[in-house]
Amino acid sequence: MSPETLTGQVAIITGAAGGLGRAFALAFAAAGAAVVVADRNEAGATLLAEEITTQGGAALAVALEVTQARSAEAMAERAEAWGGRIDILLNNAAIYAGLERKPFWELDEAEWDRVLAVNLKGAWLCAKAIFPAMRRRSYGKIVNVASATVFSGSPLWAHYVASKGALIALTRSMAREAGDYGVTVNALAPGFTLTDASLGLMEDAASYGVSRGAIKRASYPDDMAGAALFLASPASNFITGQTLIVDGGRQFL
Ligand SMILES: NC(=O)c1ccc[n+]([C@@H]2O[C@H](COP(=O)([O-])OP(=O)(O)OC[C@H]3O[C@@H](n4cnc5c(N)ncnc54)[C@H](OP(=O)(O)O)[C@@H]3O)[C@@H](O)[C@H]2O)c1
Repeated sequence: MSPETLTGQVAIITGAAGGLGRAFALAFAAAGAAVVVADRNEAGATLLAEEITTQGGAALAVALEVTQARSAEAMAERAEAWGGRIDILLNNAAIYAGLERKPFWELDEAEWDRVLAVNLKGAWLCAKAIFPAMRRRSYGKIVNVASATVFSGSPLWAHYVASKGALIALTRSMAREAGDYGVTVNALAPGFTLTDASLGLMEDAASYGVSRGAIKRASYPDDMAGAALFLASPASNFITGQTLIVDGGRQFL
């Protein structure tokens, strides 16, 4: 795929201040997109937007709380006013860092609600906020960052796995509704990937899952960027409602 594949396009990436979101933002900017770096961590978003701008790219930092409809709407308004259009929404923000692994019978109800609110409702609210801008131009790419844990039934964080499974279901339903408007909706399901968030989840993070892969090495944020670029670019215009697992072949569906 040409490195210029997103030239002239405006891409919103949520939860972009660090981890996978940062890798997506840098890759999209390198591919020519004007990137809206949206995160509840406004200082982190501002730093990354400055880094992209310093490298010659275009970026705007926006404070975003994905569970608040008004915040998602304000993000969409600022993005469109800044870039004149919205081509891409990458729903990457999630509660993932800091989750304590527990059996379902010990999970805290308030934590369950928070995980579902951010990981599922947040993605819907952001999609709802940006969709009118995409519909006006009859073009758009929505990419939801799910997780390969959905397919392995990863234990000890049922709320997280359920939120990502529901996000895949949401992806399919939204895809059916958005198709008539030139908008594709797909999910990217990363396998266990080394970020600050995942490194904090377990002591043996660097080697976790490696032996199960067809490609036997750890996964890094940059490994996710190509698949995200593909699903966000016109190269995937006839693909919708799908989930692309990116895990070095740790599981096959
Ligand atoms: N790393 C992996 O192994 C892996 C595997 C499969 C799927 N994923 C998915 O990939 C995505 C990125 O993961 P990551 O490892 O990069 O984790 P991360 O660093 O924790 O990234 C999540 C980002 O979302 C932000 N965020 C959380 N709640 C938010 C809210 N309510 N409103 C706006 N922003 C919010 C976080 O901000 P704060 O830093 O302030 O919390 C953070 O910047 C997530 O969707 C995760 O579920 C990761």
